[in-house]
Order: sequence, then C-alpha cells, then structure tokens
Amino acid sequence: MPTALITGVTGQDGSYLAELLMSKGYEVIGMVRHSSTMNFERILHIQDQIEIIQGDLHDQGSLVNIIEEHHPDEVYNLAAQSFVPVSWNQPVLTGEVTALGVTRLLEAIRLVSPKTHFYQASSSEMFGKVQEVPQSERTPFYPRSPYGVSKVYSHWITINYRESYEMYASSGILFNHESPRRGLEFVTRKITQGVARIKFGMSKELRLGNLEAQRDWGFAGDYVEAMWLMLQQDRANDYVIGSGETHSVREFCQVAFEVVDLDYKEYVVQDEKFYRPAEVDLLISDPSKAKNELGWEPKVSFKQLVSMMVESDLSNLNNKKN
Ligand code: NAP
Ligand code: GDD
Repeated sequence: MPTALITGVTGQDGSYLAELLMSKGYEVIGMVRHSSTMNFERILHIQDQIEIIQGDLHDQGSLVNIIEEHHPDEVYNLAAQSFVPVSWNQPVLTGEVTALGVTRLLEAIRLVSPKTHFYQASSSEMFGKVQEVPQSERTPFYPRSPYGVSKVYSHWITINYRESYEMYASSGILFNHESPRRGLEFVTRKITQGVARIKFGMSKELRLGNLEAQRDWGFAGDYVEAMWLMLQQDRANDYVIGSGETHSVREFCQVAFEVVDLDYKEYVVQDEKFYRPAEVDLLISDPSKAKNELGWEPKVSFKQLVSMMVESDLSNLNNKKN
C-alpha cells in the first residue's frame, strides 16, 4: 500500500485529494497545524480513515520528524496562506509559509527520504499581469501580490531541488478551482452563499469588489486528479492545469443568480473595500501539455460548477433553517 502525506489536508483541495488517494488504495497521512479549536469540517467524513499528524510549515523539526516516521512515497504540499488579500496585510507570514515553508519541506525530504515524489501547489497567480494569452508552462511570471510572489519563489525552489539534487519534484500550475468546499471568503463561494442567503430572505444584497476580473475556473475534484497523475510520470515536470476558458466575476454572478431565477443586477453592490491594491485582470490557461502528457482534462463545465455550488449552499442553509 503506497503512503502519501498531504500538507493542508483540512483545506479544500486536501479533502478532495485525500478522498481520491484513499479510493486508489493509499495510506493517507494528513498534516494539520495545531489550533485551540479543531478545523476538520472538510474531512470529518474521512477523519477515521486517514492518519492525522501535527506539523507546521513554520517548523522545520516537525517536518523532519514526520518524514522520518512515515517515509511517504508521495508528498503533496498543499498547505499555504492561500487568500490573496490577506497577503498584503500579512506579507511576512505569507512569505514564511507559502514561500519558505516549501524549502523547509524540500529540505526535510532531501535529508531523510530523497526518493519521495514531491508535488508543489503552484498557482496561476504567478502569471499576474499576464505576459501572454493564454498562459502555458512557458509564459513568463509577473506576480501582483505578496501571495503571487511567494508562489513564484516556491515554484522555482521546487525546480531548483529537482535540478540540484535530482529529486522527483513536480509543480502543478493550477488555475482557480472551486467547489462547495471552497472557503467562504473566495469570490465564487461568497457569491453562491450570497445567492442562497438572498433566496431565503436572510440577506438583501451582496457586496463585491471588481466584477470585471476574469478567471479560468474549474472544479477542485477534477484538479486533484491532475496532481496525482503528475506524480505517476517517469520524470518530474511542471504542468499548467485549467479549463482553457475564462469568465468574469460579473458572469459568475449572472449565472449563479439565474440558478434561483433572480437578476444579479438587483442585488450585487460594488464596494471599494473589496478592491485590491494590484489586480490580476485576466487568467486563461493553455492546458495542452497536461492533456497530451497526462491525459488529463476537466470533466465539470463552468455552468455545472456554478449550479453545483449554488445548490449546495441552498441545501446547507435549508438544513440550518430546519
Ligand atoms: P485552502 O483551502 O486555503 O487550504 C490551505 C491549507 O493550508 C489549510 O489546510 C490550512 O490549514 C493549511 N495551512 C495554512 N498555513 C499552514 C501552516 N503554517 N502549516 C501547515 N498548514 C498550513 O487552500 P486550497 O484552495 O485547498 O489550495 C491548496 C493549495 O493550492 C494552496 O497552496 C493554494 O495556494 C494552492 N492553489 C489553490 C488554487 C485554488 O484555486 N484553490 C489554485 C492554485 C493554487 P488550516 O485549515 O489550519 O487553516
Ligand atoms: N475574494 C473576493 N471577494 N474576490 C473578489 C470580490 C470579493 O468580494 N469581488 C471581486 N473579486 C475578484 C478579485 O478581485 C479577483 O480578481 C477575483 O474576484 C477572484 O478572487 P478570489 O476568489 O479571491 O481568488 P484569486 O483569483 O485571488 O485567488 C485564488 O486563485 C489562485 C489561482 O489563480 C486563490 O485560490 C489562490 O490561492 C490561487 O492561487
């Protein structure tokens, strides 16, 4: 039975990846950071089937101990401070976790278990002020937030460990992926929960920032499969993972409100508070390398994704009401 370590297992992607790996017969070890309250909402349904261990990307010793104890065949590094606006308020913490944390983990693997296959969660935020449309593995980076800058560092340190030490270290440049498990502060989930609240008369409006930003949105459940595929190849490599389509935040609102037969224009209010100091205006992927080499393609369409998220939030709120 292969063993996989997932950092960030309590996050959106961690929960889907744990499910996928278990279905493939892996023993899954999930690293969680210490907290005074449990934060296992996304993995409650599987928490008895995975081994939960404590560790933190801030703490080198904890990472070395975990790798020493488990010698995992595969490590998926999904842990990060992943919310872009927070990265301006907490740029040092973001750099410590999202950038240097990756070096700490790579060092632990290099010293203790150098044959382990390593996956780094890189991001389309690295493309930032895009230098090319669509964006592929060859597109130069121009990050626009401390988060994006941190992800560029972590991307290059992953490549550097691959080239310096011949480690199997792959990086997935994933475009935005969402699900009913998405954190409430990200725009998609904020919209779908807002739609449900308005439908049930719990809110009168939905306050958002820049409606013109365009993103390449897919379903997280599809994207974790690409992570696994990357670590099953003969050689480590980097891959862009996305849908190849782009939609604006405005369009997301329109489709989401239409699911409940409402017109977004009557409820969405633009609020300066949610604008960013520097914006990423347009993201659209060229995922052809992943299609050709990994045989990966997304299964859930944009409209299916939006409906899935709205329906889930309607059902969540309905259950809470009853
Ligand atoms: P997420 O829901 O925000 O999950 C982040 C995870 O990291 C959580 O489990 C969090 O733990 C953990 N974490 C934060 N700081 C940590 C620390 N110091 N030590 C150990 N764990 C820590 O993120 P996601 O959407 O699943 O994304 C997974 C990864 O992919 C992230 O690296 C993200 O930057 C990257 N990514 C995401 C997308 C996307 O669209 N979702 C696209 C490209 C790249 P707590 O639960 O305790 O907070
Ligand atoms: N969060 C948020 N809240 N975003 C808003 C709002 C709002 O009220 N109004 C408009 N937006 C716009 C943002 O300005 C941004 O252009 C877009 O919606 C998407 O914002 P988020 O959903 O917060 O995601 P992100 O694109 O900044 O970052 C996500 O995707 C990256 C991959 O490209 C995160 O998951 C990152 O961790 C990930 O790397």
